[in-house]
Amino acid sequence: MIQLAENVSLRNLNTFGIEALARYYYFCTDPEQIPEIIAEWSQEEPLLIMGGGSNLLFTRNYEGLVLRIGFSGIKIVHNNKDYVIVEVAAGENWDDFVAWTVERNLGGVENLSLIPGTAGASPVQNIGAYGSEAANCIESVSFYSIGEKTTKTLPAQDCGFGYRTSIFKHKLAGDAVILSVRFRLSLRPVLNIEYKGLKEELQKYPEPGIRAVREAVIAIRRRKLPDPAQVGNAGSFFKNPVIAREDFTALKLTFPDIPSFPAGDGFVKLPAAWLIEKCGWKGYRKGDAGVHPHQPLVLVNYGKATGTEIYELAGAIQTSVYQTFGIKLEPEVRII
Ligand code: FAD
Ligand code: EPU
Repeated sequence: MIQLAENVSLRNLNTFGIEALARYYYFCTDPEQIPEIIAEWSQEEPLLIMGGGSNLLFTRNYEGLVLRIGFSGIKIVHNNKDYVIVEVAAGENWDDFVAWTVERNLGGVENLSLIPGTAGASPVQNIGAYGSEAANCIESVSFYSIGEKTTKTLPAQDCGFGYRTSIFKHKLAGDAVILSVRFRLSLRPVLNIEYKGLKEELQKYPEPGIRAVREAVIAIRRRKLPDPAQVGNAGSFFKNPVIAREDFTALKLTFPDIPSFPAGDGFVKLPAAWLIEKCGWKGYRKGDAGVHPHQPLVLVNYGKATGTEIYELAGAIQTSVYQTFGIKLEPEVRII
């Protein structure tokens, strides 16, 4: 019999630092317990699987069960002369895992240094930064299927990975409790340093290698992004919009300085930060809800903002970006 806690404050469990109560709460430190918890849980009430709470915005109390994944561990399950396959338990802290790989000179995830959250959440939105994404190294994802009451493993090619998306955000949302993720890491790391600013930062490090890449990425991130321990936030609040090249050509007539990045055949990606800044939101603050003064894609809680205040601010930004550019910004953060 699993003992659920009741009316638990989630304030310290989400990086926005938003106060919300979980009607029921369980911190799971053993993956073997997952089937039992799910079986005991009435399926009529909602269930939220939670890792580090770094991509969530609570706008009200959660009237169901918050199941926080707390089992950790990293093990090498296969190796040969070129690569190793490493299995990481879902509750493992993501950046501790990255540090572990870099200490062993295993290449592949170093550009994803310092992203908050758990390894189990990394396939959910296919975390990405500095020219790399988790999907580049993921071999497979193991999960407990609530509907089928069994553990399954999906190879990476069946995970539907794309920019900030995967099958776990769509078809398997609400069904898959991710238990572990396998990564293929190179014994002969090839550096990926083409992202704007990374090469320049690397010049400060005498010895090129994945350790230097990790340190450079950490240095850039510390300069650009607010630390959730100091000011509440969930990283980029919106995704960077991807639009058809012909729409971009039309926009460029009105906004000749609009930046863009290639996004596959016939599409371009626009920096949402630029669109938001252009609409005058950078540094905006109302009460304790605000738009970060250095990175306008990041919405912040300066202290006692409510989830609703952040949500309303996000809505106002979406409206003004739409009115100015005809572009709909989609949230990256999951709104509860
Ligand atoms: P949570 O926020 O707890 O959950 C996020 C989603 O994943 C929810 O839908 C949840 O239900 C689901 N989920 C979590 N664990 C499981 C599981 N075991 N099984 C099934 N579903 C699960 N993201 C990037 O991609 N790139 C960045 O550069 C980046 N920078 C950030 C910087 C800051 C300062 C912050 C605060 C956030 C940043 N993020 C970034 C967003 C965030 O770190 C990632 O989305 C991260 O993967 C979320 O992990 P989490 O464990 O906190 O997940
Ligand atoms: N920009 C502005 N004004 C600013 C800041 C940026 O106009 O104040 C414009 C510039 O044109 C700049 C561009 O935005 O070149 C891109 O900025 P940045 O390199 O900071 O990256 P981003 O597009 O804002 C994305 C990810 C981040 C990731 C970084 C680094 C999304 C939604 N966000 O941000 O991921 O860390 O690139 O790769 O794709 C997250 O997902 O939570 C996250 C932080």
